[in-house]
Amino acid sequence: MPNVFIPREQRPGETRVAATPETVKRMTKAGLTVTLERGAGAAAFFPDSEYEAAGARLEDDAARGWSGADAVLAVTPPSPEAVAGLRKDALLVSFLAPHRETGLVRALAAGGASSLAMELIPRITRAQSMDALSSQANIAGYKAVLLAAVHLPKYCPLLMTAAGTVKPARFVIMGAGVAGLQAIATARRLGAIVEVSDIRPAVKEQVQSLGARFIDLPTAESGEGTGGYAREMGEDFLRRQREIVLQHVSQADAVITTALIPGKPAPRLVTREMVEAMRPGSVIVDLAVEQGGNCELSKAGEDVVHGGVTLLGPANLAATLPHDASALYARNVWALLQLLWKDGQLVVDTADEVIAGCLLTHEGRVVHGPTAERL
Ligand code: NAI
Repeated sequence: MPNVFIPREQRPGETRVAATPETVKRMTKAGLTVTLERGAGAAAFFPDSEYEAAGARLEDDAARGWSGADAVLAVTPPSPEAVAGLRKDALLVSFLAPHRETGLVRALAAGGASSLAMELIPRITRAQSMDALSSQANIAGYKAVLLAAVHLPKYCPLLMTAAGTVKPARFVIMGAGVAGLQAIATARRLGAIVEVSDIRPAVKEQVQSLGARFIDLPTAESGEGTGGYAREMGEDFLRRQREIVLQHVSQADAVITTALIPGKPAPRLVTREMVEAMRPGSVIVDLAVEQGGNCELSKAGEDVVHGGVTLLGPANLAATLPHDASALYARNVWALLQLLWKDGQLVVDTADEVIAGCLLTHEGRVVHGPTAERL
């Protein structure tokens, strides 16, 4: 029976785990054997005892876990040293950050194992249950609003009290993809007034259905690119967008930015002048900070205060909700594994659109086109 290994995540601050007792139970029921590095789920509040009850075997020696596995399931890109222990015919399923992790990609190709990158899973209807980018971005959007709320020196909802009326907080959300839409929904649940800027016209209706106001941009130019994503807009467009959005941002208590363009640096949407036009006490949460930031003044992993405005640049927000983040991620991974599971074996069927889409290395080669080109 194929053996699946779940290592403890090694990256500093990473609290998530790639399998939960729930998915271990499903794997063992399907006929896989599961080995878990002792303590792998501890930071996500899944104790070893629950994994054992679900049928997993505990392993103290990570190197032995890697070398004995037919498939390794992880969350963040493992080290090149760890993957060197993988057998030639083994599989690795994880976020692999192929655009950044050149050393890892080379080590995977050299070792011969097949690696499937969770971030490369095509965003098509059939693969929705495997879409870890969405499950984790959802969490980031939710948590960004909570962070803004706890940093604000005021209430979010409208309150009528014996001591008088409190006006609701005003949020501006830039980018209404998966994270942005969840940020809108969360801010609305807290009772805030929400305004939204995006460059894909298709988003307007979704924004309005969540009870937020869409900021219209006075241009016929659509920012719709391929695959439902945005395309890179010219500097002229971005300047006009900033002029319009400035009026809204200067009145806002909180700004959440989530705008991204696949494969490009994040668009610069909030300038120093815009921050300086905001009231002291206001908060900006820049979720695009790891892609260069939507805000000129935000810094990755740091809180910056500029003229009384707090700028938060949180890294890896999904890891701040590790229990649910792991539960959802583990289900995404299990859905992908089920696609590979055929007649009692894990099979890499390159004719399958989803598998071909996320396959990074296979039979000693880098098979993902853009990554191969970059190398
Ligand atoms: P993303 O993280 O790449 O981008 C976030 C948002 O930023 C997008 O809405 C984009 O239009 C916006 N943006 C880019 N430049 C901007 C600018 N200058 N100003 C304001 N906003 C700007 O996108 P995400 O969240 O990964 O998904 C985007 C879309 O992909 C979804 O809305 C959906 O249409 C599609 N999708 C489809 C799925 C499926 O069919 N399985 C699953 C998930 C997403």
